[in-house]
Amino acid sequence: MEKVDVVVGAFFGDEGKGQVVDWLAQEADIVVRCQGGNNAGHTIVVNGKKFALHLIPSSILNPKALAVIGNGVVINPKVLLEEIKILKENNISINGLRISKDAHVIFPYHIMEDELQETLKGNNKIGTTKKGNGPAYADKINRIGIRMGDLLDGTFNKKLMENMENKYKFFEIYNQQNPDLVKDLAVFSDQYLGYIKKLEPYVCDTVELLHTAIEEGKKIICEGAQATFLDIDHGTYPYVTSYNCTIGGILSGSGLNAHNIGKVYGVLKAYTSRVGEGPFLTEISGDLGDQIRELGHEYGTTTGRPRRIGWLDLVALKRSINLNGITDLIINHLDTIFKLPTVYVCCAYRDIYTGKEIRNYSLVASDMKRYEPIYLAFKGTDVDFSNATTYDELPEEVKIFLTCVKLGTDIPVSFVGVGPDRGQLIDLRQKEIDKRINLKI
Ligand code: IMP
Repeated sequence: MEKVDVVVGAFFGDEGKGQVVDWLAQEADIVVRCQGGNNAGHTIVVNGKKFALHLIPSSILNPKALAVIGNGVVINPKVLLEEIKILKENNISINGLRISKDAHVIFPYHIMEDELQETLKGNNKIGTTKKGNGPAYADKINRIGIRMGDLLDGTFNKKLMENMENKYKFFEIYNQQNPDLVKDLAVFSDQYLGYIKKLEPYVCDTVELLHTAIEEGKKIICEGAQATFLDIDHGTYPYVTSYNCTIGGILSGSGLNAHNIGKVYGVLKAYTSRVGEGPFLTEISGDLGDQIRELGHEYGTTTGRPRRIGWLDLVALKRSINLNGITDLIINHLDTIFKLPTVYVCCAYRDIYTGKEIRNYSLVASDMKRYEPIYLAFKGTDVDFSNATTYDELPEEVKIFLTCVKLGTDIPVSFVGVGPDRGQLIDLRQKEIDKRINLKI
């Protein structure tokens, strides 16, 4: 049976998963989005035209593939409809869209709760995208969430009425008002029923769909949302998102099982970025961080926020590989970082009090505070290699860097990105990379 390949973000998100999925989707029959909501954002460039997708899998651009929104996703129907509209306006067919009947719905009260909770946390805020994800997942866990399929079985109205009463009480405590949250429940309910009715033709049992496809020998790609260290269990809690971004979330968010999985592609940049609060050991402050942010256009696709910038951290990468079972690395933004005279990569940490070298990734904030990164330095290059299409066309400096990552992690680098366009992903799968350097993390 054909195995399912998975694409996960190896660090804090924005690693360029969309471009990778878009590339893999050329050969795929189905691409599934398994978690998250419109807090995620993928920018895809096709023939020089940019598309920002927040909910619909990038494979929608491939007319031969199905684009499935799995049961683990939380859907803001208004946003999804806007996305559909933009695609249609650009003559991109959405006939291949499928939405799980078990995906939960984000309502305006979730967005309001998200904003309010961040305000109440003050200095301890998470820096969420304020799209209502956390509260929608909280309702799911509290077993009061409303799912896309509730429309189909006619329980939508009753569930919404019950929820709204409780939400009003919650907001009244904090004396919050929101024009979007109309007091007229009937109007509100009708509005959302209207949205979801428009989506009804796409709603189905996606678990059945996926397993039938596997039996028929179809190729499925799972597109992870956010990334490993934003995972609710394995990330830098509490500065994380509200679900599992690692491989476990892919399985539960799609209904696939462990035996179905083949390749797990871990996507990273040749440096790291992070949006929102939370520890970031290799963070680069000051002018250099600003320079890399500009070179890499590191501003949030969803919120436009400037991303924090740091060097690549191989200790953290090793943790990410173990958590996800990453079989192949995909390294993006080589073209960006090699414009600098020197590129650093963290290969271990040093405990500043004991001088001891640490090679385990620690999620404990107090540990993070006492560790400093130990860096390897690599030479940058003046050569513009953004048009390179093969390994041999990459500058020697870049090859040395790739060799170190491969040897430091023991995982092959299967693709590298030298620019945002579909054609700027170089396939290295057949390439035996340099074995001269002996480095083990
Ligand atoms: P939430 O997912 O909106 O609840 O935000 C929780 C944390 O995840 C915050 O630090 C966000 O900045 C971060 N986050 C959520 N979505 C993304 C993303 O697509 N890229 C990078 N960070 C994200």
